[in-house]
Amino acid sequence: MEDFKEKVAFITGGGSGVALGQAKVFGKAGCKVVIADIREDHLAHGLKELKAQGTESHGIKLDITDREAYARAADEAERVFGPVQLLFNTAGVSIFGPLEQSSYDDYDWQMGVNFGGGVNGIQTFVPRMIAHGKGGHIVNTASLGAFLSSNFAGIYCASKFAVLGLTEALRQALERYNIGVSVLCPANVKTNIAESIKTRPEKFSHSGYLYNEETISSLQRIYSQGMEPVELAQHVLEAVKKNQLYIIPYPEAREPLKAHFESIIASLPPEDSDPEGVAKRQAAMLRYREEVAEQQRQRK
Ligand SMILES: NC(=O)c1ccc[n+]([C@@H]2O[C@H](COP(=O)([O-])OP(=O)(O)OC[C@H]3O[C@@H](n4cnc5c(N)ncnc54)[C@H](O)[C@@H]3O)[C@@H](O)[C@H]2O)c1
Repeated sequence: MEDFKEKVAFITGGGSGVALGQAKVFGKAGCKVVIADIREDHLAHGLKELKAQGTESHGIKLDITDREAYARAADEAERVFGPVQLLFNTAGVSIFGPLEQSSYDDYDWQMGVNFGGGVNGIQTFVPRMIAHGKGGHIVNTASLGAFLSSNFAGIYCASKFAVLGLTEALRQALERYNIGVSVLCPANVKTNIAESIKTRPEKFSHSGYLYNEETISSLQRIYSQGMEPVELAQHVLEAVKKNQLYIIPYPEAREPLKAHFESIIASLPPEDSDPEGVAKRQAAMLRYREEVAEQQRQRK
């Protein structure tokens, strides 16, 4: 997508951080912007900033884990600005602690927002984007943690691995509808994510981790050194123009990613170690693909 003039963008988490940076940058590029956020104070702050820079914007209070509310939010966005062509599944939360001390609530909250919220965005908007036929672009925000997992961030990383896997598949699925798909994998951004515990719902309130003002302050000190959200969003804009799949604008990610993928490749047997097995498995996969393609043709 090259031209953003008058395009409608729907941005989850748009009242703060990464998403507000996206709203500002895509707003400046000419988009009409809908920001959706669970926090009213964040929404008010985001709308004020967007209006101040002259961006046509609209705010919707939305918990992205609520599917019915999500459908109503999509209707509202269309009513206010028209069909949505840019979807940013950006809202996310994090809480960190030793994986073996995790509670089910630690899992359910993070998986529900980070992965489930993105699923709801896709399920809500993809059929609408296909139906309006104008093409578009979807940016799912994962994390560098979508490639590199670690004990303290185990659930968060698992939720982002899921976002990454789904995004790679979605890109293949939507290519023929002229809808591009990208995954944003930031390392550290200057945002309010250290306080995301504030949006944790009562039904998932039991955490297995230590969490207090001190642990929040320690996290805030890390994020205070992160990339500015607007700078990150500039990279996103350039990537959307090129329909680039991976957006990882952090040079320090190169060595850890290299080591990670090299260790995976190193675990494989030599290429020529099982020619018969390889031929059998590849033929079976090819046959399966042909059968599925035929079944899909008959279904139409
Ligand atoms: N900050 C970083 O260093 C960093 C690094 C990697 C990835 N990310 C990812 O960036 C994304 C944005 O986070 P951020 O850093 O800008 O944090 P942030 O807290 O500043 O912004 C997130 C916004 O999402 C909203 N939100 C939370 N739960 C919601 C829900 N259920 N429904 C709707 N809105 C909800 C919050 O109210 C907030 O306004 C997240 O997906 C996060 O995982 C951030």
